[in-house]
Amino acid sequence: MQNIYDVNEFFGKYIEHRSQDVNANNLIEKPIFYSMLPDMLGKDVLDIGCGVGELCQYALSCGAGKVVGIDCSKNMLELARQNCSKDISFYNILMEQLSKIHDKFDIVTSELAFHYVEDFDKLISDIASLLKSGGKLIFSQEHPLVTAFKNPNHEKIDTKIDIMGKRYYLVSDYNVLGKRVVKWNVNGVIKYHRNFTDIINTLTRHGFVIDQLFESYADEEVIKKEPKYKYQNDRPYFLFICATLK
Ligand SMILES: C[S@@+](CC[C@H](N)C(=O)[O-])C[C@H]1O[C@@H](n2cnc3c(N)ncnc32)[C@H](O)[C@@H]1O
Repeated sequence: MQNIYDVNEFFGKYIEHRSQDVNANNLIEKPIFYSMLPDMLGKDVLDIGCGVGELCQYALSCGAGKVVGIDCSKNMLELARQNCSKDISFYNILMEQLSKIHDKFDIVTSELAFHYVEDFDKLISDIASLLKSGGKLIFSQEHPLVTAFKNPNHEKIDTKIDIMGKRYYLVSDYNVLGKRVVKWNVNGVIKYHRNFTDIINTLTRHGFVIDQLFESYADEEVIKKEPKYKYQNDRPYFLFICATLK
């Protein structure tokens, strides 16, 4: 398992990017993700890949009961502990090690972390064991159209072409699941591609019913703030799923 957020060069660039007001997280990912969250009043919430703890803090402000955030990155957790309420418990636990958690939760959330896990089947099975019956899983991840391209020369090949104001993306290996090595902030970042078939069937195999599914888009207001996000409407960056455990 690669812990890229504890590599200094990557971490510095990531935090710089996130500290700007205009970024894809603030303008595109978070508004859709937060709109999917159920009422959290009195609910116990676990956030997987919690980063600097924004979602945990939000859950607490919505009146959630117990709020727990886990992440593999010590850098991210240090900022989370500095910036968030002491009522939130942050643990340095990998999403591959959910059996270390013995509590049960009403809601499990995860923003933009699941594309880092190799064994999605085990992750979803472990989450099902952590959820109370009727509990909800809400997650976002990179869209399968983004993760698909398998590029043996990732630092050299540009996967997009602009023609007359439209952006065309190269797609390959959509049905070849598994490891991808990409350039994102630095070379050599490891992610895992899964197609819709794998994502949806894994969820249903472990007893989840899909409540809502969204693919990211950019409306006029977003495009006004950052024109390059119009390309979002040629190919969505993110996939969002809310599912309930039967
Ligand atoms: C793109 S960041 C998102 C952070 C936060 N969820 C947010 O949306 O602001 C992905 C996070 O997932 C964490 N992560 C990646 N792989 C992980 C793993 N195997 N176990 C736990 N956390 C992981 C990273 O350290 C990082 O904090």
